Amino acid sequence: MSKKNYHIPVLLKEVIKYLKIKKNGIYVDCTFGSGGHSKNILKKIGKHGFLYSLDKDPYSINFSKKIKNKNFKFINDSFENFIKYAKKFNIIKKIDGIILDLGFSTNQIKNKKRGFSFVLNGPLDMRYNQKYGISAKEWINNSNKKNIFEVIKKFGQEKFASKISKSIVEYRKKKKIEKTVELSNIINKIVYKKNKKINPSTKTFQAIRIYINKELKCIKKILKDSLKILSYKGKLLVISFNSLEDKIIKYFMKCNSKDIKIPNKLPITNEELKKINSKKKLKILKKIFPSKKEIKKNIRSRSAILRVAELKKI
Ligand SMILES: C[S@@+](CC[C@H](N)C(=O)[O-])C[C@H]1O[C@@H](n2cnc3c(N)ncnc32)[C@H](O)[C@@H]1O
Repeated sequence: MSKKNYHIPVLLKEVIKYLKIKKNGIYVDCTFGSGGHSKNILKKIGKHGFLYSLDKDPYSINFSKKIKNKNFKFINDSFENFIKYAKKFNIIKKIDGIILDLGFSTNQIKNKKRGFSFVLNGPLDMRYNQKYGISAKEWINNSNKKNIFEVIKKFGQEKFASKISKSIVEYRKKKKIEKTVELSNIINKIVYKKNKKINPSTKTFQAIRIYINKELKCIKKILKDSLKILSYKGKLLVISFNSLEDKIIKYFMKCNSKDIKIPNKLPITNEELKKINSKKKLKILKKIFPSKKEIKKNIRSRSAILRVAELKKI
């Protein structure tokens, strides 16, 4: 793999800073990828610390094997299942920090066999783990127009969703859509290219990828589980790359941190209100964007937002 196809970890310095790594702490990297964040976390923990890293993608197994450290364990599974491992390893409420760096990696998009790219022609797949679920090709050739429209609209926020879904169904009458560039060509005939830097297929490809991999459902599950597995003052760091992801994270952190204010006339006692508010477990710490310097070095970081919170009670 050429150097430019390697994944550069986004907001690395900031992630390490805000995880506030303790030498004997237990950390979880939910999105190992090629290990950019994990390797740097491992540099900071001591012999009594531990890092669990997960990735759904079996391609990550090889990257994980390069890490020779007995305080590290790689798990090839979805982070939505992490709580199961936390129970198995007896680390519930003992985790000092969780990092999620969402979406896909450069290694995945630059490998045309994975079918994520609308520039490199490959089989239309887009699954993080090709052993499970249905490929983008199966889905796009077998779904009805309404379903295709809804996915492109909801997960891509694409204003041309109706025209695109109609064109896909028309095209299918002649032949199956098999390749990424084939789908991209269908879209390019419809979507008006206002911004030269953004490919007209971006939103539709994002939508299909999110839908095929059930990405938003997985995010909601790990966020909910984080409240059950973090230790007191344990940190939750999430890097998102699109507004759908970021809205979920922002809403989750807000809902679990802000005290509810009850209008005066509501028949609720101070005691009851205290009880409701005592369930608020998070303290929001930071919202961070990449610097201009980072964006210049790594264009993929331009849409990143890092949100940081900590558990204020267990
Ligand atoms: C942006 S990359 C992470 C890159 C990594 N931080 C690094 O520096 O190398 C996101 C990774 O999350 C993985 N991923 C996506 N959804 C996942 C899920 N539900 N469970 C586990 N891994 C997932 C992808 O396979 C991809 O490798």
